[in-house]
Amino acid sequence: MPIVNRVAAMHDEITQWRRDLHAHPELLFDVHRTAGVVAEKLKAFGCDEVVPGIGQTGVVGVIHGRKSGSNKVIGLRADMDALPIDEQTNVPYRSKTPGVMHACGHDGHTAMLLGAAKYLAETRNFDGTAVVIFQPAEEGGGGGREMVKDGMMERFGINEVYGMHNSPDLPIGEFALRRGPVMAAADKLRIDIEGKGTHAAKPHLGIDTILVGAQIVNQLQSIVSRNLDPLQSGVVSICTFKSGDTDNVIPQTAMMLGTVRTLMPEVQDMIEKRVSEVVEGVAKLHGATAKVTYVRNYPITINHDKQTDFAASIAAQISGANKVNTDLAPVMGAEDFSFMLNERPGAFIFVGNGESAGLHHPAYNFNDDAIPVGTSYWVRLVETAMPA
Ligand code: NI
Repeated sequence: MPIVNRVAAMHDEITQWRRDLHAHPELLFDVHRTAGVVAEKLKAFGCDEVVPGIGQTGVVGVIHGRKSGSNKVIGLRADMDALPIDEQTNVPYRSKTPGVMHACGHDGHTAMLLGAAKYLAETRNFDGTAVVIFQPAEEGGGGGREMVKDGMMERFGINEVYGMHNSPDLPIGEFALRRGPVMAAADKLRIDIEGKGTHAAKPHLGIDTILVGAQIVNQLQSIVSRNLDPLQSGVVSICTFKSGDTDNVIPQTAMMLGTVRTLMPEVQDMIEKRVSEVVEGVAKLHGATAKVTYVRNYPITINHDKQTDFAASIAAQISGANKVNTDLAPVMGAEDFSFMLNERPGAFIFVGNGESAGLHHPAYNFNDDAIPVGTSYWVRLVETAMPA
């Protein structure tokens, strides 16, 4: 069964919503206009409940099916926030806010889920409850975490949750997912080193913080190459190294920032432990001190087996099984839908965006041809999981 007819008929309308959102991008939790548009539309569609302000600026809509024999409640989630990037496209609906753009397609995700909400509220051809979840601050702010902390799962009685992201690596009409870890944990690393500042011509009177820092950068790379099983995955990247102001002073302090990405909890534990050992050990070797601040930010996005197989079967209903890759290689990027998957079983799927600039690129644009595919996936998922 391909694209749902009623959804195909809504293609132009959903496209207009998407382009309006694209022209008005907002960052992190400051998605006030977007959340307002979402809440207003959900009410106009006739959702049974529309609740703004979940996880600060998140919005939740509740749609009951026509029958009421089932207590099943399925959550469908989209993200609403944009990125601090100056848009480099010439589309007529390009960002009206300089320095902010929808470079990750969250405008498309929000529009597709709105389309699904409209269809579901209109047809109600299911037995149970669909909960549409619009979250803020996916791009590093942990909006998903905030909605979970606000008690969203309990308040709306959600049993299962599903998420979707567009992928420029996939043609339009194709899907990809996998069981188990699909996206990485993203941990934040800060290292503060203290040596002993001195005149650059008298290094023997000081402790060279920059030399210590350089050794730390090198030695941290031994963790993945020497401590990690070669068949497992991990990334340690130092992305900032700040120290010194001039050419004739050996500075007293240095500061580094970095990220650690992992797909398995035991690998995450091992790398966290080794980072501290390496940093403190190298500093000690040189007579300096170093402090590691290690923060676990987004957890590993882990798809549950049963729900992943179910999601794949829905994608196959829309596109045909040959257009659904169920053995997607995991990616080391992170996704805060992980917080919801830690609370309830569910699955995260990628939908093809066709050939386009990459995610987070200033020339990226969500492809409106993906709308009928993504929206059909949402509505069939609800109708199939909770048949009337
Ligand atoms: Ni994104």
